[in-house]
Amino acid sequence: METVLMTASEKRKPADLLIVGFFENEKLSKEMVQLEPDFSKAAQAALERKRFSGKSAQTFSSYSEQYQEAAEIMMLGLGEKKKYGVTGFRQAAGNIIKAAKRTKAKTVRVLLDTFLAGGVHLEQAAGIISEISILASYEFKCYKTKTDEEDKKEPVAKLEMLALKKPGGNAIQRRMEWNRVVAQGVILARDFINEPANVMNADKLSEEAKKLAVQKKIHCEILHLPQLKQLKMGGILAVNQGSRTPPALVILEYGKNYQKKGTVCLVGKGVTFDTGGISLKPSKDMDKMKYDMSGAAAVIATLGVVADLKLPVHVIGLAPLVENMVAEDPQRPGDIIRMYNGKTVEVLNTDAEGRLILGDALSYAEKYHPKAILDIATLTGSCAATFGDKAIGLLGTDARLLARVKKAGEETGERCWELPLWDEYAESIKGLHADINNIGGPYAGTITATMFLKEFVPAGTPWAHLDIAGTAWSEGNRPDCPKGAAGAGVRLFARFLTNWAGK
Ligand code: BES
Ligand code: ZN
Ligand code: ZN
Repeated sequence: METVLMTASEKRKPADLLIVGFFENEKLSKEMVQLEPDFSKAAQAALERKRFSGKSAQTFSSYSEQYQEAAEIMMLGLGEKKKYGVTGFRQAAGNIIKAAKRTKAKTVRVLLDTFLAGGVHLEQAAGIISEISILASYEFKCYKTKTDEEDKKEPVAKLEMLALKKPGGNAIQRRMEWNRVVAQGVILARDFINEPANVMNADKLSEEAKKLAVQKKIHCEILHLPQLKQLKMGGILAVNQGSRTPPALVILEYGKNYQKKGTVCLVGKGVTFDTGGISLKPSKDMDKMKYDMSGAAAVIATLGVVADLKLPVHVIGLAPLVENMVAEDPQRPGDIIRMYNGKTVEVLNTDAEGRLILGDALSYAEKYHPKAILDIATLTGSCAATFGDKAIGLLGTDARLLARVKKAGEETGERCWELPLWDEYAESIKGLHADINNIGGPYAGTITATMFLKEFVPAGTPWAHLDIAGTAWSEGNRPDCPKGAAGAGVRLFARFLTNWAGK
């Protein structure tokens, strides 16, 4: 689907469908009446007869040869104006795509001006529509041997965004390009994650990272088993002990010449499959655990995006890759291991493996003297239980960094919600025979997991942890994502780094 911007002065052919936004219990705008007097009469009647009131996602449409912009015009309800904002607009953008698909229109025109309120401005709106139009059409179908001819045809060929108020400069074009590039990054992450674990193992994902690095001209180094042993990365080695595929630590580096603003280090959990190990998971939904490398996928894809955007920022991406299996000689509950930073851990539960591999990678980040470390992981079921798929669990110790992450989340629709990381929670991970245990008690699972990570963060480095256990998988009810991997974190990271670079 191609998205283009149109201004009122441009000569244009009628589209198949025009979509206009309408707030609950408001009046038809003057611009609308001027643009489409005939439709406005029909709309007025629908409002008077209470056929349409503008409730969120409600639609009213009619056809006429008399209409200027399109043969069919549709009003889309935006809900109450006072509750509207970027989140409301994202929903509306999803509804636009849905309505466009439903009507099978080939060219769809959207009257952007009618969607601008509650702080949503033109550039942002155009960017979000082009992003969502790409993401909503995503499919992972490389394993389908038969594809329906009908399926192959893209229903909407062109999406035209009509702006009556002439946008100044090319800020809007730049914004659309930003969203397009980032959406491609999200799709790359989704592709990595949706690949099954019999294909997407540590070897394959390292290869993919290398391929991306060559394409985008970024630096890539991969630490393999012998180096990981030499470095004594005890967490990564222990978790992977039951797998036939050797572990790897992917290291990507972009923007070596942009160190003035300080280095940002991104660390992503890459468990290509999580059976739970000897502390085996129940079989229900275990298939989903191929998405336990969503953090690593987000980090790798983000580095590609940053290179495409040519951001003036130095970014290091670290992705520890392992598989948590049951085998002849896997790690056992009760094993004591020594991590890369020298601390000892009693592995009370082999299913709490993410924190073991992240612990090593977080300590390794010290080498780059970063100004900020952000890690991202499908870390705890407890986070998914708390937030569902609506928020990323955010924890950390540096209030300014957390505020920056939250802001990026609000701007991209990947909203974060903070949980406390008080010292009192450290009690529950104190070890009996080792320094720490890899699990806390039965409560506050997301927090105690993060307290564990904190033991491995280089002292004094601002750090934020993002738990995406709930948001990384879509059940198919999100406007911008079909069922499967969501590619969580890429948009948030891209916005965070764009803001960091001051762009
Ligand atoms: N990968 C899981 C977390 C997870 C669970 C993500 C469900 C998404 C959905 C992680 O490795 C794990 O198993 N965590 C355990 C920790 C527990 C043993 C302390 C959990 O959350 O149950
Ligand atoms: Zn696990
Ligand atoms: Zn896991």
